[in-house]
Amino acid sequence: MTDTEIKKGLAGVVVDYTAVSKVNPETNSLLYRGYPVQELAATQSFEAVAYLLWHGELPTDVQLAQLRATERQYRALSPDVRAVIDHVPLDAHPMDEVRTAVSLIGAKDLAGSGSVMDAGGTADENLARSIRLFAALPAIVAYGQRRRRGLEPVESRDDLDYAANFLWLTFGKEADEVVVDAFNRSMILYAEHSFNASTFTARVVTSTLSDLYSAVVAAIGALKGPLHGGANEAVLHIFDEIGTASNVVPWLDTALAEKRKIMGFGHRVYKRGDSRVPTMKAALDTLVEHYDRPEVAELYDTLESEFVSRKGIYPNLDYPSGPAYNLIGFDTLTFTPLFVAARVTGWTAHIMEQASANALIRPLSEYNGPDERHIDGYVPDEAVL
Ligand code: SDX
Repeated sequence: MTDTEIKKGLAGVVVDYTAVSKVNPETNSLLYRGYPVQELAATQSFEAVAYLLWHGELPTDVQLAQLRATERQYRALSPDVRAVIDHVPLDAHPMDEVRTAVSLIGAKDLAGSGSVMDAGGTADENLARSIRLFAALPAIVAYGQRRRRGLEPVESRDDLDYAANFLWLTFGKEADEVVVDAFNRSMILYAEHSFNASTFTARVVTSTLSDLYSAVVAAIGALKGPLHGGANEAVLHIFDEIGTASNVVPWLDTALAEKRKIMGFGHRVYKRGDSRVPTMKAALDTLVEHYDRPEVAELYDTLESEFVSRKGIYPNLDYPSGPAYNLIGFDTLTFTPLFVAARVTGWTAHIMEQASANALIRPLSEYNGPDERHIDGYVPDEAVL
């Protein structure tokens, strides 16, 4: 075995530049194209932040109006996309519905685009594809939750902007302003986070000059995992297991004795707390008050203080967002699809950045298998034949 240093999980390895966002664990900060995410979440619509991630600058009023007009054009689910979602078993995970729907949208959009040499697309084509997915995902996610509840789909409303329309599509009624604001903040906080596993997956696919849709489908697969995007769903499963704040200590005793990962805690980059958590926790607090559910805050605070005091591992964004989405009324299985709807903006910003770099991503590996050997030394056992 040579003394090659292996960096498992690429932990701590800087593989490229990006101008999309800066995650700084030293200052516990996150900048989207230079803007602190807290400021964006407090002052901007998710549409404006999507524009910022794609273009590098916040939009003028005219540019935002143009994006909103285009987004409205692509909101509706075509009958064939609805039909393909209907072919996904009701007891499949909703991330499989999302992946299936995005695959069909991509296949239709790319049809006739000729050889794979043209799949990568121009910058304009990829921006259009990004907006198409940004606009379609709310209806895909909402349609999935309603069909699992045996409810008919709801048509989008052009008088509602992105966040309010997403809630309308899901629940069939207009959400209160405080709920729209909390949801809008969550989408901005989930939008982008540098080279996380799903974004890097999208960049690897793009680096082969494959198309944007293939990169997004691959990223959806990566995000589904409970160590990554699936954690917000897993947080609610933990809350359901614990039940009330009085049960946190015995539950945690058992969980840690079983060496379980406590979902919603820890992070590969942030080691003293996730910069997004205070903003999302504030949004959760407004929802706890709005829905008069103090017991949610009590459970949240008790588990956090108990786990942090025992392990010194802090909450990540999934910890406050899970209960927030639960209070708003999203099914737990819908949480990670919500993450897709938000992160598709960051993914596509990175896809466009990687496409312009035109550099294949292909790391090395250190071989630790059998030494070289040859067939003439191989004698099959009678039983094998
Ligand atoms: C996201 O990368 C991103 O930016 C992702 C994300 C984004 O916006 O894209 O921020 C979104 O994915 C947030 C993370 C969501 N995942 C979870 O909440 C799942 C639970 N978290 C852990 O699995 C873990 O914290 C990771 C995977 C998130 C990070 O793990 P690391 O950095 O690889 O650290 P590790 O797994 O090597 O843990 C170091 C030690 C271990 O103990 P020992 O084996 O050394 O004794 O800390 C322990 C771990 O067991 N540990 C935990 C823990 N997290 C770390 N123990 C219990 N519960 C946890 N949550």
